[in-house]
Amino acid sequence: MEQKNCVFIATSLDGYIADKNGGLDWLYSIPNPDHLDMGYVDFTSKIDALVMGRVTFETVLGFDVEWPYQKPVFVLSNSLEAIPDSHKDKAFLVNGDLNEILEQIHQKGHHRLYIDGGGTIQSFLKQDLIDEIIISTIPILLGGGYPLFSDLPNALEFEFVGSRVYLNQVVQNHFRRKKT
Ligand SMILES: NC(=O)c1ccc[n+]([C@@H]2O[C@H](COP(=O)([O-])OP(=O)(O)OC[C@H]3O[C@@H](n4cnc5c(N)ncnc54)[C@H](OP(=O)(O)O)[C@@H]3O)[C@@H](O)[C@H]2O)c1
Repeated sequence: MEQKNCVFIATSLDGYIADKNGGLDWLYSIPNPDHLDMGYVDFTSKIDALVMGRVTFETVLGFDVEWPYQKPVFVLSNSLEAIPDSHKDKAFLVNGDLNEILEQIHQKGHHRLYIDGGGTIQSFLKQDLIDEIIISTIPILLGGGYPLFSDLPNALEFEFVGSRVYLNQVVQNHFRRKKT
């Protein structure tokens, strides 16, 4: 069974995934009258589960909408004591060594994983555990906020898979980790 860890995320031109206040309004700054999903539904149809950082999890819980995920969500946190009762059948707390966490998730039958949240993606990248990155770049400079990337112990080469432009504004690039 193919195992892979994928990122599907939108960033500002200067590489932030949320503004200085954690706000996401800028993601919706490009008029999208037909509610184009920009590949999200197709992407999520090809994953088995999500691994999400605690901050993203709490952000989603704070949205005034129904729980948006059909797949199990593994929430990475060292501080959270428990998943709220309302979401105990949908989200599962994990922490510790990332390779051991992945092993546990694979044993549950989830092999293609959607890795979400800046800090979480950075943790995975530090251990070279990301296989694919699909980044949609929104043409705005936020000037600060929650960064997608941070320092790495060494450079990681990716190869280009494809590129699309949505709404004549949003550039979506797909990269795959180059394994030598
Ligand atoms: N633009 C987009 O498409 C997009 C997508 C996703 C999220 N966002 C936004 O990005 C912001 C959140 O980003 P974020 O950088 O704060 O990242 P995050 O990954 O959502 O949350 C970071 C937290 O995850 C936990 N974590 C990460 N790595 C860990 C590890 N190896 N072991 C244990 N726990 C670990 C820690 O939780 P503890 O502190 O509890 O230990 C850490 O503080 C939110 O505003 C969210 O809405 C935007």
